[in-house]
Amino acid sequence: MSRPGRYGDWDGGKYQERFDALAASGVDVHGEADFVMALNPHSVLDAGCGTGRVARELAARGVDAVGVDAEPSMIAEAQRCAPELTWIVSDLAALDLGRTFDMVVMAGNVPLFTMPGTNAAVVAGCARHLAPRGVLVSGFSLGRGYELHEYDAHCEATGLTLESRWSTWDRAEFAGDGTYAVSVHRRA
Ligand SMILES: C[S@@+](CC[C@H](N)C(=O)[O-])C[C@H]1O[C@@H](n2cnc3c(N)ncnc32)[C@H](O)[C@@H]1O
Repeated sequence: MSRPGRYGDWDGGKYQERFDALAASGVDVHGEADFVMALNPHSVLDAGCGTGRVARELAARGVDAVGVDAEPSMIAEAQRCAPELTWIVSDLAALDLGRTFDMVVMAGNVPLFTMPGTNAAVVAGCARHLAPRGVLVSGFSLGRGYELHEYDAHCEATGLTLESRWSTWDRAEFAGDGTYAVSVHRRA
């Protein structure tokens, strides 16, 4: 059962309905998957996957994709949409899957919905699932309480170095004063 107030208190069915409506109206809801595919990963952990929008699209494009989310309601919907894939209910801060991935992606403001004070542990949880030379990709809004200098410091603390930064998933230039950032950090 979903715990009210935690991680955004999502209703997986309603969340998925919104994306289905957007897709039906002709909006491209796969900008993140396009960004990921340009980096050519064989395996991707969709971290804070929600209903699995990104992982499902990546799997359809041939990637070994696994989804993790702390909200059971989101994972239940992901499971309903793609029962053939692996979906895990877990907080990223505590995650230990016993395997690594070429890429971990946090799409859709995941760090802004995590439990207060746990962002460093969430980044560390992502980092310990990265293969050598693997990349952590995230996209989140700025000015909402978790800023890039904090995120970069949390990445540095786990051995991840900033490789590139964009202001959108379709790689618009990051000027430094925008409202959104897509960041790519690489493990040494
Ligand atoms: C806005 S939704 C984005 C879902 C999906 N990535 C997408 O782009 O459609 C944010 C998700 O992050 C999840 N989340 C936040 N903090 C988390 C954590 N520490 N561990 C696992 N999931 C987390 C929430 O449960 C929620 O499903």
